[in-house]
Amino acid sequence: MNLIRRAKSQVRRIASRRRSNGEAAVAGEDILDVLKREHEEVAALLNRLVETDSGPARKRLVQQIKTALVPHLRAEEKVLYRAVIRLRDRRVRQHGEEGIIEHRLADNILAGLGRARSATSPQFEATAKVLRELMQHHVDEEEREIWQDVRENFSADERMRMTRRFETEKQRVRAV
Ligand SMILES: [Fe+2]
Ligand SMILES: [Fe+2]
Repeated sequence: MNLIRRAKSQVRRIASRRRSNGEAAVAGEDILDVLKREHEEVAALLNRLVETDSGPARKRLVQQIKTALVPHLRAEEKVLYRAVIRLRDRRVRQHGEEGIIEHRLADNILAGLGRARSATSPQFEATAKVLRELMQHHVDEEEREIWQDVRENFSADERMRMTRRFETEKQRVRAV
């Protein structure tokens, strides 16, 4: 392999590793772009979880989903939802509260998958499907309603500052 090709494939490997670790936020990036990327990453993992038949693969995927999703949820609550709930508009605040309730549901379902003794039981499969459905609904609503609220109420600069705080909060969750 020539040098340029080798260098290019190395860059691709590093880029995909950064993406899969959810650490690809670049200084100056809009918080909504970072969230979008993470939503897609979790959706892909949930699809694989529902589609695979292998017990060990399912267990690995649950772990990967936990690693990707839990810091996202906690940091999003602190940085995004809290900011939205602080706004005056009653409907906007309700969107934030609804999102937080759905996060709690996702936490509970994910904990159930982590505790499951068998990853090949019908109960495990049902739980995985419910988690995927909940997250599809949640992300769909979040991207439509909450993001609209964020775009209307926070400047581009504020949204960039949110990105920095979001990354810091995620690191804090990972360190626990
Ligand atoms: Fe989200
Ligand atoms: Fe969310």
